[in-house]
Amino acid sequence: MPEFMYAATSPAEDLKGVTLERYIRSEELKHPGARGFFSRLVSQICLAAKIINAEVNKAGLVEILGLTGKKNIQGEEVQKLDEYANEVFRRALDHTGYVSALASEEMDEPYLIPGDFVDDGQYVVVYDPLDGSSNIDVNVSIGSIFSILRRRSPGNGPTTMEDFLQPGAAQLCAGYVIYGSSTMLVYTSGRGVHGFTLDPSVGEFFLSHPDIQIPPRGRIYSINEGNSAYWHDEVARYIAHLKAEDKASGRPYSGRYIGSLVADFHRNLLKGGVFLYPGDKKSKTGKLRLLYECNPMAFIVEQAGGAATDGTRRILEIQPGKLHQRVPLVIGSRDDVAEATRFLQGEAG
Ligand code: AHG
Ligand code: MN
Ligand code: MN
Repeated sequence: MPEFMYAATSPAEDLKGVTLERYIRSEELKHPGARGFFSRLVSQICLAAKIINAEVNKAGLVEILGLTGKKNIQGEEVQKLDEYANEVFRRALDHTGYVSALASEEMDEPYLIPGDFVDDGQYVVVYDPLDGSSNIDVNVSIGSIFSILRRRSPGNGPTTMEDFLQPGAAQLCAGYVIYGSSTMLVYTSGRGVHGFTLDPSVGEFFLSHPDIQIPPRGRIYSINEGNSAYWHDEVARYIAHLKAEDKASGRPYSGRYIGSLVADFHRNLLKGGVFLYPGDKKSKTGKLRLLYECNPMAFIVEQAGGAATDGTRRILEIQPGKLHQRVPLVIGSRDDVAEATRFLQGEAG
């Protein structure tokens, strides 16, 4: 074989430094059934990430900071960058021909892509266009989160709500972009978790973190301690347990809370640890949304060897009832999530 030909089935490690498109192409070569839709979708998501990144990086210089004065279906103030990012994703994805509809934190109802732009629109995409909005104006890392599902309704008919309300285990692909000290895109399509770093000088994402594996146990916990007055006793007992000194189990853990799920999750994915946004006396189901925050992150963390529950059940097995449904979230290192879930079920502590 001529020396310039890559072995199509190179393990991810051997492809370190290749572009995201090249990596996806090598994945497709391993799976003849893949018809290129995937590379088309992910490269459009890539384009959206680059456009949003450009705005995020100059947010202080252009009229993109601050509030729009509107509220979204969650009753949350909509930041200009939330709305801008939502439009960027919508425009990047509505002409691919493969996607029949989109759902987003910033759109009350799904956006049905006009029929003439849908060839064999077998897929729907759910996304949180800008995660960590409260951190936009203070220059703290924020992100975008996406999830790709195969439609369940017949391809030649209208997209239905059931196409979106699928358990997370049905996801084909999930990923996030973190706009931080560097901009990274991290995704899984069920064959491991791979991280790509944007080189802004050439405008390309390059494979920098092949086959990410989360340590089975960490020494970091992330929770908003400001809510401790509302915590159920089981949560309070678990956090007190992590703060108690016990050298054998590496306690006390360090507390780290950024307030952007993507940033808190990404740090724990690389270093190990546990993130909790539990239900409490004020909000029974917690704050985070199942379809476009918890499910994508749960798919990624399980592919990296970690775990994600709602304090009782595996996140990926939850049957969604509503598009913007919230669920409690415990996510991160396998052993930490197992221990936290035991505490939250009153079986420990
Ligand atoms: P979004 O900006 O998309 O609404 O998400 C914000 C979420 C999540 O990113 C983060 O983990 C959580 O809100 C922080 O909530 P608190 O400020 O209540 O801790
Ligand atoms: Mn979010
Ligand atoms: Mn958001």
